[in-house]
Amino acid sequence: MANILVLYDSNTGNTENMAKYVYEGVKKYPVNSRIKHIDYAKAEDIIWCDGLALGTPTNIGLVSWKIKRFFDVDLLNQWGKIDGKIGCAFSSSGGWGGGNEIACMSALIMLMNYGFLVFGVTDYVGEDFTLHYGAVVAGKPKKEEEIKACVRLGERLAQWTLAYVDGKKEYLEIIKNQKEEEE
Ligand SMILES: Cc1cc2nc3c(=O)[nH]c(=O)nc-3n(C[C@H](O)[C@H](O)[C@H](O)COP(=O)(O)O)c2cc1C
Repeated sequence: MANILVLYDSNTGNTENMAKYVYEGVKKYPVNSRIKHIDYAKAEDIIWCDGLALGTPTNIGLVSWKIKRFFDVDLLNQWGKIDGKIGCAFSSSGGWGGGNEIACMSALIMLMNYGFLVFGVTDYVGEDFTLHYGAVVAGKPKKEEEIKACVRLGERLAQWTLAYVDGKKEYLEIIKNQKEEEE
């Protein structure tokens, strides 16, 4: 069975709130799942997972220092040994235009550097609302579409991981149907 980790940093609870919704999406699928604050994360958690949702507060337009430190220091001796996992990102910023998508891109770049296969989501989960580079929210998720974006990210992570790591190709059809439902 596929193992999925939702790993996040959060100082004031907003990204943690997003993480809980992402986790809710993951748990709709037959996978082993864990959710962890970066303070409690160890390299073993990344080794364990087949799919990872990495959440960060937008800090100076980038990932938080704790997330960067984890990948720079704690995980470094795994570099080159853990390629092929599925990865995605989410971020809470202070405001729209404050760089939450750029922070997601920073997270995705770090995951790519470690050999993750990263993805975005083309689905529209509300009017004029999507998550092409990962789920993004200003503050905590409040509106229906903001919550839906987080849940959808978790669902899609589970679906891609089941399809590509667990070899359950029927999930590709499930992804297609889920997208068509909203068109
Ligand atoms: C050091 C620091 C840097 C920040 N940089 C940005 C920023 O570049 N853009 C932005 O919109 N918000 C910025 N913020 C605000 C946070 O991204 C925002 O409050 C977020 O919701 C916090 O998430 P959390 O509750 O999970 O910690 C910054 C906050 C801190 C503490």
